[in-house]
Amino acid sequence: MDLTGHRALITGAGQGIGRACAEVFASRGADLVLLDKNSETLDEVAGKVAKAGIWVMARPLDLTDLDGLGSDLEEIRGERVIDILVNNAGFDRPGTTTKIDREGFEAVLGIHLSVPLFLIQSTLPSMRSAGWGRIINVSSIYGLTGGKGEVAYSTAKAGLIGLTKSVAKEAGKEGVTVNAVLPGLTRTPTIENFMADRFKDEIIADTPLGRIGEAEEIARVIAFLASDEASFITGAAVPVSGGWGM
Ligand SMILES: NC(=O)c1ccc[n+]([C@@H]2O[C@H](COP(=O)([O-])OP(=O)(O)OC[C@H]3O[C@@H](n4cnc5c(N)ncnc54)[C@H](O)[C@@H]3O)[C@@H](O)[C@H]2O)c1
Repeated sequence: MDLTGHRALITGAGQGIGRACAEVFASRGADLVLLDKNSETLDEVAGKVAKAGIWVMARPLDLTDLDGLGSDLEEIRGERVIDILVNNAGFDRPGTTTKIDREGFEAVLGIHLSVPLFLIQSTLPSMRSAGWGRIINVSSIYGLTGGKGEVAYSTAKAGLIGLTKSVAKEAGKEGVTVNAVLPGLTRTPTIENFMADRFKDEIIADTPLGRIGEAEEIARVIAFLASDEASFITGAAVPVSGGWGM
């Protein structure tokens, strides 16, 4: 699953699943473009992979500022095509259907749908010209099952599966595969710091493998989908959830 010779753009690379992706992709030799709004954590990750001899460019930015992102991408585009895109950055605004406010709902749709669409629009043309590309969108089991009190997040993650399949249908003939991974409960700083134990316990009790997943376990599946080993997989929504949500 060597990724040498490829350049991967990973969003939300400062911590959690995005950070694990940066580390796993680096271990397989990919060049890395890492984006996150947290410059401190981003620098730490970039420093670590650079020490391992990997070409890395790290940009602290707010992805939801699409105009700013557009001009940053102009600068980021170098001599080598970004041929792997991992749309991972995300956040949640919990709320039931009657309680969620429009600002919260639209913010969640923005980060999980508008930002991935924008990045796909920005990178797909050069992947097509190169005749090879990989797009991996990080959705969620909630995108399949819905989630009580998670109306914005579940709606956005279901939409991301629709986006994945649509782009897969459009881009397949040019050698570009587009897939989604659907993590279950995964140990990341946000889950560790902000999710109450009783909610975690409820999900773990409903997870056939009986435990929380590790960020690296998600990243390894993303790296597989980015590799030539996954050359005949496109439009898939792959649960990586210990069986939760089957
Ligand atoms: N951890 C889980 O249990 C779990 C389960 C299912 C799906 N997911 C999905 O996996 C992805 C990663 O989750 P995680 O738990 O690692 O998240 P996390 O909160 O630990 O990390 C997300 C990263 O994205 C960055 N980010 C958020 N908004 C940004 C913005 N506007 N601009 C730039 N950077 C921004 C944050 O700074 C952070 O570094 C998300 O899309 C999440 O919805 C996570």
